[in-house]
Amino acid sequence: MEEKVAYLMKVRKYYAEEGMREWRRLVKDPYHRLEYDTTMHFLERYLPSKGLILDAGGGPGRYTIELARRGYRMVLLDLTPELLKIAKRHIRRAGIQAMVEGIVEGTITNLSIFNDECFDAVLCLGGVLSHLVRKSDRVKAIAELSRVVKRGAPLFISVIGRLAVLMRGLADFPDLICEDVFIKIRDSGDYYGKRGFAPCHFYLPEELIKELKDQGLELLKIVGLEGIASTRRREINRLYRKIPKAYKIWWKTHLKTCTHPGAIAISEHILAVCTKP
Ligand SMILES: C[S@@+](CC[C@H](N)C(=O)[O-])C[C@H]1O[C@@H](n2cnc3c(N)ncnc32)[C@H](O)[C@@H]1O
Repeated sequence: MEEKVAYLMKVRKYYAEEGMREWRRLVKDPYHRLEYDTTMHFLERYLPSKGLILDAGGGPGRYTIELARRGYRMVLLDLTPELLKIAKRHIRRAGIQAMVEGIVEGTITNLSIFNDECFDAVLCLGGVLSHLVRKSDRVKAIAELSRVVKRGAPLFISVIGRLAVLMRGLADFPDLICEDVFIKIRDSGDYYGKRGFAPCHFYLPEELIKELKDQGLELLKIVGLEGIASTRRREINRLYRKIPKAYKIWWKTHLKTCTHPGAIAISEHILAVCTKP
């Protein structure tokens, strides 16, 4: 129990200190926009045309705000009060307070404030589930997310991919490769927050699929959000700025390839769209 509290506290402390950086994360450059734009592409495809949506672990509220602007009624839940404060400010500035029915501090492992099957869609995006290092906590969280979504409605979960973290090690942190932390991530996906980033479980796609199916969820789509551009931040940003025409072709190439098993496996973020049959 103590260990669990300790790692959740570390996650909360990390995001409390991230603040505005987390608000900017998804739009800070064309590479990071790949995660956001690809997620929006699949939200547009699978969301019902209206309804009440839970943004679980929605942090500073990028998706809550965009979907509220599009006419959805939203509830935003997050572990980190500092991020909810930022969300409240941006929700006010966007003038969409009436569409945001709740802004709640809480954890995805316990959604008992919500009734069974009360949401028309549930989002858990940007690695929230990955921040539950213990498998039993992830099992609990998936059960809760699945409990509160209506039957047949979509549940969108995106996690952080393990192979991309190893690829980043090679490109950006070669010294780490000699350390236990790298070997532990390689062999188990688990990272307890020793080197800057918050504690995390980095997923292989087959693991995510199994955790969802084990709880009776039906997988509708699985997507590599950065796809074959994963970890190629410099190249994507350069292409966007220097050859906009080529970037447009790249975006189409990305959409055509991001559901290929190879593109999913190497992606920094992996999105699963599923439903409770
Ligand atoms: C990388 S941010 C993603 C925020 C947002 N979903 C997005 O995609 O932009 C991860 C978020 O997960 C939240 N978080 C981490 N563990 C959580 C938990 N157990 N329950 C709820 N939120 C959690 C953090 O506070 C943070 O806001």
